[in-house]
Amino acid sequence: MNEPLILGIESSCDETGVGIVRGTTLLANTVSSSMQEHVRFGGVIPEIASRAHLETIVPTLNEALETAEVSLEEIEAIAVTAGPGLAGALMVGVCAAKALSIATGKPLYAINHLVAHVGVALLDSSLGISAGEQLPERLGALLVSGGHTEILRVRSLTDNVELLGATIDDAAGEAFDKIARILGLNYPGGPAIDRLAKTGDRAAVKFPRALTAPKYLGSAEAPGPHRYDFSFSGLKTAVVRKVEQLEAAGEPVPTADIAASFQEAVLDVITAKAVLACQEQGLDTLLLGGGVAANSRLRELLAERTERAGIKLLVPAISLCTDNGAMVAALGSQLVAAGAAPSGIDFAPDSSLP
Ligand code: KG4
Ligand code: ZN
Repeated sequence: MNEPLILGIESSCDETGVGIVRGTTLLANTVSSSMQEHVRFGGVIPEIASRAHLETIVPTLNEALETAEVSLEEIEAIAVTAGPGLAGALMVGVCAAKALSIATGKPLYAINHLVAHVGVALLDSSLGISAGEQLPERLGALLVSGGHTEILRVRSLTDNVELLGATIDDAAGEAFDKIARILGLNYPGGPAIDRLAKTGDRAAVKFPRALTAPKYLGSAEAPGPHRYDFSFSGLKTAVVRKVEQLEAAGEPVPTADIAASFQEAVLDVITAKAVLACQEQGLDTLLLGGGVAANSRLRELLAERTERAGIKLLVPAISLCTDNGAMVAALGSQLVAAGAAPSGIDFAPDSSLP
């Protein structure tokens, strides 16, 4: 039987992505990013991102169709990120998807961006889970990007994903971007801090590990209010204060040491809580997703800690970890295969989709 050919559109942040899959086979994953336009502001400017999506959505679509060597008429269903994300940015992708659905008469599926970050694992054949189109049964996911930092329990991609923990303020990638700016590094700050930290001492400054105090953590039997949650805004303040103190004292700012110590504070908590959640919730496999998955220290620390805990770690190719259309198409494909009803064309994008 020929598996359905699905088109996926992603526009929740600064990446315009169009992906095409057949079942769990990746045929095209075209991404156009407006990141360079945000560099001088040190962060994503929603208005600029929306305009960039408008300009690039049709060329990106055409390039994906060309790469996959399929025509629009052959596409059997259209999937689009409905949220969470930037409202105006989401609107562009959703409107494009609706227009395509009306023009081609093909069903439209509204996709949750976070669940798509998990479903993308099916497309990476090196992870060894795509053959049966089934994700591991006791699966946890750690999503870390510029827009989100979450721990999920994934029982079923199509109808049972549970949020175990999340950031209560900034996303981890956002914290990397802000600290990079303070240290005089360019946006996006994550890769810059990752590089600089390699030459620094991660024990040089003991920055706070937020939400790890007993009153937040509690115990396995009596979990505290934030056992699996994260917070990075206090850490950001601590770094700012440290830099200000050094400058006021006329001392040089050891940027590599600060970068390494900051990075360690973020990743220590993220990896420890992800492993804790897996252990306590009986999850034997952990999937890593989001742009921060590119971080070398995160990969190293998470590999160490999951191995010690007997948890299997899955890290998809980085082009599948960052925002892209293929992950949206992959989840759309799962919905079609599960016989889920299409979303119709009346749904609105939801920037804070749970
Ligand atoms: O998933 P993504 O491409 O877009 C969303 O934010 O949804 O993630 C981008 C984020 C940025 O905050 C960027 O600084 C961060 O991922 N990032 C990294 C690294 N590469 C990208 N953070 C830490 N280390 C990296 N190597
Ligand atoms: Zn994302």
